[in-house]
Amino acid sequence: MITTRTIDIDATARGRATSLHVPSAGHGPPALLLHGYPLDHRMWQDTLHGPLAQLRTLLCPDQRGHGRSPGSGDAVHTMELLAEDAAAVIRACSDEPVDVVGLSMGGYVALALWALHPELVRSLVLTNTRAGADGEAAKAGREASIATVLEHGRAAIAQAMLPKLLAPGADPLLAARVRTMVEDVPVESIVADLRGLKTRPDRTTMLGTIAVPTLVVVGDQDPITPPSEAQLLANGIAGAQLCVVPGAAHLTPMEQPAAFAAALGAFWR
Ligand code: MLT
Repeated sequence: MITTRTIDIDATARGRATSLHVPSAGHGPPALLLHGYPLDHRMWQDTLHGPLAQLRTLLCPDQRGHGRSPGSGDAVHTMELLAEDAAAVIRACSDEPVDVVGLSMGGYVALALWALHPELVRSLVLTNTRAGADGEAAKAGREASIATVLEHGRAAIAQAMLPKLLAPGADPLLAARVRTMVEDVPVESIVADLRGLKTRPDRTTMLGTIAVPTLVVVGDQDPITPPSEAQLLANGIAGAQLCVVPGAAHLTPMEQPAAFAAALGAFWR
């Protein structure tokens, strides 16, 4: 059963006050699951309803301005701002450090959370993500995406991203779920995310400070954060495990939910 709570976030030097919609399911120690760009908690729907809910209480917040969490009006969603939001959710839901799972942008946020508040993190799953910052071409791509969404709207972003998010031959129903999620994100949130993604720092040297068990997951066909990036991530973290999931591109938990759950289940046990 899914239950939801609303967690108030105070204004800080990093961003304005807001509140976060946090659906959860399962029982056992808490795990925080951070969604990617430009998505919301629904990307964890299969995970929430799958076997991992027997092992952990799965907390899947909508990040500010996504899903049912209101936008805060911040012009930039820095990874540090989103990490402070994640820290507030952890503090509201647990007296202990929690297992943190982040997909892509959620992975950048998980790394920022480790940089800012390592005491809140019990373990890390970094899925379909990378440690590096945007290079010049990627930064230009972010600007082009901002121009596209401002001029042509969210449908144009969904149209451009879908072939990169899902492996060729994806189930049309899955593609429709993803398209709906992308098209539901307000334009101002997409722009604020893109600005935050563009300016995020390189975390490569920080990887050596990660002192909790870490699992790196990637789809074998991920064109956005390919297996070579996942390998670099795993190489940088002492003792990290790497799992390459066949038949998935960038949204491994949605494309191959059983394999994703099996990998996390083995890691968490
Ligand atoms: C994501 O899935 O969160 C984005 O693809 C991340 C990115 O574009 O760097």
